[in-house]
Amino acid sequence: TGAVAYDPGFMNTAATTSAITYIDGDAGILRYRGYPIEQLAQHSSFLEVSYLLIYGNLPTPTELEAFDQKIRRHTLLHEELKGFFGGFPRDAHPMPVLSSAVSALSTFYQDSLDPFNPEHVEVSTIRLMAKLPVIAAYAHKKSIGQPMLYPDNSMNLVENFMRLSFGLPAEQYEMDPVVTKALDLLLILHADHEQNCSTSTVRLVGSSNANLFASVSAGINALFGPAHGGANEAVLKMLRQIQADGIKPEDYMEKVKNKEDGVRLMGFGHRVYKNYDPRAKIIKATAHEILGKLGGNDELLDIAMRLEEKALADDYFIQRKLYPNVDFYTGLIYKAMGFPEKMFTVLFAIGRLPGWIAQWREMINDPQTKIGRPRQLYTGEPERNYPAN
Ligand code: CMC
Repeated sequence: TGAVAYDPGFMNTAATTSAITYIDGDAGILRYRGYPIEQLAQHSSFLEVSYLLIYGNLPTPTELEAFDQKIRRHTLLHEELKGFFGGFPRDAHPMPVLSSAVSALSTFYQDSLDPFNPEHVEVSTIRLMAKLPVIAAYAHKKSIGQPMLYPDNSMNLVENFMRLSFGLPAEQYEMDPVVTKALDLLLILHADHEQNCSTSTVRLVGSSNANLFASVSAGINALFGPAHGGANEAVLKMLRQIQADGIKPEDYMEKVKNKEDGVRLMGFGHRVYKNYDPRAKIIKATAHEILGKLGGNDELLDIAMRLEEKALADDYFIQRKLYPNVDFYTGLIYKAMGFPEKMFTVLFAIGRLPGWIAQWREMINDPQTKIGRPRQLYTGEPERNYPAN
């Protein structure tokens, strides 16, 4: 079998070729299917970006309309799946509720799960795009003890999600276009990021020919980890702590630099970006505007901006090439929209879904795909005999 390369964390091993997302971490470049993230953020919608990632090209208006209509037709959850939410404790975190319910989709659509049947893959794609945001909103409703509304298919995916998350049966839900537009933008920015931990998980599980629902459910569990999708929540906690303790941002920075109690500047640093995360740049530009309109907590935003300003001028951060990442400002915006902190990673999952689906489909259609099976360097005992008595 020859020598085995040792590469913990896959820092230097490409496990696949891919034509979906391009990142140049040193230059701070991110493109989906060749289109710069800045242009997509400015001109596109989450639905259009989803189509682009999954099918490879921007849709024509007719194609986009057909995609939208198909998704609207599949938003209903099976009534028995709805019953599923009652089985979790009241204070359940919505991420494991989401991954469990997505996994359970395999039990409701048993006759259309074949990864090598293009019709099965297509209907699973639409089902997942339509139902995952509904499941996410129900997981939120479950955690606050409110009734789950039925989807309203006169609304698009993002509008429906907002209404299902915040609407009540007894009153008309007032859609705020500023909020839906801001959420749409954040979902675009999260839609794919090549072979990150959750996406690699989706591919690894899928490489055993597991179906799309099973593979994406595994990806959701990978995203649940605080080193991956949980950082937006951690940033907000850090800002609130600084505010509550009345510490000056300068003093907090000293603690970070001295590595006191392992304190890190949350929302800073990235394995791939050694330059300003282009997604953070876009969010920063809109954070003020959005928070201004939504009445967000300006004091927390001020603390965040002061920390950033100090960090960008500080040798510690310059030498280590630590810049704000996508999570530095998102938590503040989600909070201003009215989402509890437990939902932040769920919002990330809704955004990342088209990326997971696109990567899974690319893998299934790639003749080079083999079952994922890393090697190891054994460090245990040499052969020894079981004691005779
Ligand atoms: N604050 C202070 N120091 C830091 C930070 C930070 N946020 N990030 C890295 N460093 C230091 C680290 O202590 C080390 O210093 P030294 O060379 O003196 O030991 C050096 O920079 C390199 O860090 P590393 O941990 O070896 O880098 P990594 O590529 O393994 O980690 C990271 C990347 C994102 C896990 C890390 O930067 C971090 O923990 N950041 C804070 C958490 C965060 O914001 N995560 C969100 C990532 S983006 C969204 C996603 O992918 O899910």
